Amino acid sequence: MSIPFRESDYSGMKVLVVPDAWQASLIAVESILKVIQSAQDERGRAVLGLATGSTPETVYAHLVERHRTGFLSFQNITTYNLDEYYPISPLDPKSYRSYMHRHLFSHVDIAPHRAHVLDGTVPEAYVAEHAAQFDHWIEADGGLDVQLLGIGRNGHVGFNEPTDLPVEQALRLATRLVELHMITRADAAREFGGVDHVIPRALTVGVASILAARSILMIATGAHKAEAVACALNGPMTAELPASLLQTVADKVTWVLDEPAAQGLP
Ligand code: GLP
Repeated sequence: MSIPFRESDYSGMKVLVVPDAWQASLIAVESILKVIQSAQDERGRAVLGLATGSTPETVYAHLVERHRTGFLSFQNITTYNLDEYYPISPLDPKSYRSYMHRHLFSHVDIAPHRAHVLDGTVPEAYVAEHAAQFDHWIEADGGLDVQLLGIGRNGHVGFNEPTDLPVEQALRLATRLVELHMITRADAAREFGGVDHVIPRALTVGVASILAARSILMIATGAHKAEAVACALNGPMTAELPASLLQTVADKVTWVLDEPAAQGLP
């Protein structure tokens, strides 16, 4: 199925706008399937960087459907997830490991040892080592063919939160343990049964590894994302709005927006 979209260019990044979130997810799936196909044609395998949150849920539902109907196998696919709360058990339904199991991994034929999620059970003394290994594994797997991204209301990507670091330093941020920003905690409050129950720290793939992906696919839907989207696409590049750092690798970035998320764009 081919979905009609409006295409434009902001700061050198390709932006596709469709009427609603459903169509945005279909466009994203088409794009992911193309990446998988060409990576498998070239190297016999594909490496995907995956995101969580409510936005990609329908993307995973479509991928599961393609698998169920025999059009997509995950046998030659390796995945790396962007982030995970810390500390958290993988058995906790709020963990991103559990989210991925619910929405994708348990429904497809991916090999368990190729479905990587940062480990929320690593003792704190080993967290830095685990984070460095995660970056190393991605590199050793040949790098990500595509990094799927969502955007936080505060412009975060993964859990790379707004910071006052100079841009050059922010671009070098590696995978690490971080403190969650107020807005991120407020947005997670419903899932955790109140803002005070939100786990205040998380592991996140760093800005450097995200930007190193061969392609980046950002999906943003809903009016509550419009301000962050407009600043990231059209504003100055700043670590105060981490998604704006995608401008540094503009030619490999595609944004898929629904109309409400695009409403702040000129
Ligand atoms: C979460 C995740 C991000 C996600 C973002 C948007 O906190 N850490 O990876 O992209 O916030 O989430 P949602 O799609 O639910 O708006």
